[in-house]
Amino acid sequence: ARVLQAKQDLAGKQILITAGGTREAVDPVRFLGNRSSGKMGYALAAVAARRGAKVTLVSTVSLPVPAGVQIVPVETALEMRDAVLSRFNDVDVVIKAAAVADYRPVAPQAQKIKKHDEHLTIELVKNPDILKELGERKRGQLLVGFAAETHEVERFAQEKLQKKNADLLIANDVAQPGVGFGTETNQVTILDRNGGREDLPLMSKTEVAEAICTRIAQFLRN
Ligand code: CTP
Ligand code: CA
Repeated sequence: ARVLQAKQDLAGKQILITAGGTREAVDPVRFLGNRSSGKMGYALAAVAARRGAKVTLVSTVSLPVPAGVQIVPVETALEMRDAVLSRFNDVDVVIKAAAVADYRPVAPQAQKIKKHDEHLTIELVKNPDILKELGERKRGQLLVGFAAETHEVERFAQEKLQKKNADLLIANDVAQPGVGFGTETNQVTILDRNGGREDLPLMSKTEVAEAICTRIAQFLRN
């Protein structure tokens, strides 16, 4: 009964969400990764679907898939980029909750790297910035980015909002306890392209997702 009562303020909207940290191959048995659990992205997918959106979740992790959500499994930043760009023209909103690796090994080895010397150097090359590319291509889509910072949160988040041409930027200070990677809770500030800001208290990732979806629904109405 509770599901039936949920407000349907995202009814008919196509929303693409990315979740989890990308894994960049070093060799057949190893990867470079990060601490993203994917929980924020999955909470957003569950809430958006409950509020009536058609949700596609491009994900690097295998958490339980929320009801009504279409899952697209990916592993690397390049795979995530393909999955997102190929669907971009058909969506109303993209939420980039994923922690995309900024760099990948230049030449992943076909065979397992054996240990030899005391030191090992792996050369890395920058990955494409998916959100920035979306910001350059967007034609009416609403773009929602995340920024996980350990210091100067406000300044870096504002810079990302502008540099990536996003409409909403969800900033969190991952140096605080209970915030960000792997936790059940989050404390975020929502910045918007018109200079607005909303400071939310520490709350569950589902509650944060509800607040983000409310801001998205407001933006879509205007
Ligand atoms: N992002 C992306 N593609 C990348 C890197 C980041 O789409 N190659 C997206 C993330 O999904 C997030 C936003 O950009 O929504 C900000 O990511 P973040 O790592 O905080 O910022 P960067 O621009 O990568 O800058 P830095 O890591 O140096 O702070
Ligand atoms: Ca980054």
